[in-house]
Amino acid sequence: MDKPLLNALQGKQPEVPPVWIMRQAGRFLPEYRAIRKENSFLDMCKKPELATEVTLLPVEMFDMDGAILFSDILIPIEPMGLNLEFIEGRGPVFHNPVRTREHVEALKSEGVSEDVGFVYEAVSRLRKYLPDDKTLIGFAGAPFTMACYMVEGGASRNYTWLKSMMYNDERSFRLLMEKLTTVLEGYLSSQIRAGAEAIQLFDTFGGILSPFDYERYVFSYVKRIFTTLKRQFPGTPLIYFAKNGFAFFPLLQELEADCLGVDWSVSLTDAAKRSGNSFVLQGNMDPVVLFGGSDVIEREARRVISEGRTIKGHIFNLGHGILPETPVQSVRTLIKVIRCSQPSS
Ligand code: CP3
Repeated sequence: MDKPLLNALQGKQPEVPPVWIMRQAGRFLPEYRAIRKENSFLDMCKKPELATEVTLLPVEMFDMDGAILFSDILIPIEPMGLNLEFIEGRGPVFHNPVRTREHVEALKSEGVSEDVGFVYEAVSRLRKYLPDDKTLIGFAGAPFTMACYMVEGGASRNYTWLKSMMYNDERSFRLLMEKLTTVLEGYLSSQIRAGAEAIQLFDTFGGILSPFDYERYVFSYVKRIFTTLKRQFPGTPLIYFAKNGFAFFPLLQELEADCLGVDWSVSLTDAAKRSGNSFVLQGNMDPVVLFGGSDVIEREARRVISEGRTIKGHIFNLGHGILPETPVQSVRTLIKVIRCSQPSS
């Protein structure tokens, strides 16, 4: 059976771009909220039956080409030794943030990926239930984005703790990044072994650094993860999404990735040029367009699709996660516009 999303990631672009949406298995779905009412978010991540059910919801409702595993980038941090809590209305909080050399040294990294067996169980269940034409995407947060949460202790405005560690105590910062890289290599390899057909690495906070600091402090770890995965699993496509990462797109050409995620602050055409036309691009409609009328949704989706036809390959997605307040009907409209977009139209 043909898998449009996997094909596109492997450079065999279908006529109509394949589509999935970041955070598609989330709070904008009434069905999600109903399950969530009975279970905590962490429980949903840790129970493979629930994670499987929630992953499949948007795939069935909207006929998405991709299913992204229901989990969270912060899941592997708990077994490293931090206490993770999701607080209603505030988001994730670590009550024991990593601030000193001793804190970093105390973090576990060896064997951590084996402590989250529930993730791999969900992945292998999903491969059983997912229709053959759909592609199962595994994921993780990139080391820097994970480090941001661990050092700040939660969401942050200026990332002062993290950047202070980076500038003033580079050895501790690098040890933390090393440990995270080791954990993530094991974690992503295990997801692929369990049945993930493609991997996306989320570097949501990459763009808070200057391109110089990104190159100096962050890039080598991202590169190591991609090199390791490509060597172990040459047939598994890899996606890198760095929000606000346009400034360092030229550098990303060194990455053994197949696809780059693009946010809506740049055109796909410029993103392709700046990354040497060497990647399939994924994105990049503004998530808030889905709060507009169907005429606006259609106009914007068509613009993104026609730009996508001029580059090496294109997977339709939003430029970041779908927002919880998004009307479900807008997603239906969007998918209809994409499916009806033959090259001549
Ligand atoms: O995309 C998907 O549908 C798959 C699941 C997924 C979730 N989080 C589920 C989730 C993925 C891929 C993530 C990634 C993630 N998590 C990122 C990187 C990508 C991005 O969107 O920037 C980050 C930074 C996080 C950390 C995180 N998790 C935050 C900041 C929050 C709270 C705020 C928010 O957006 O809800 C979460 C919680 C979370 N992760 C929820 C879901 C469905 C909501 C939990 C709830 O029901 O209350």
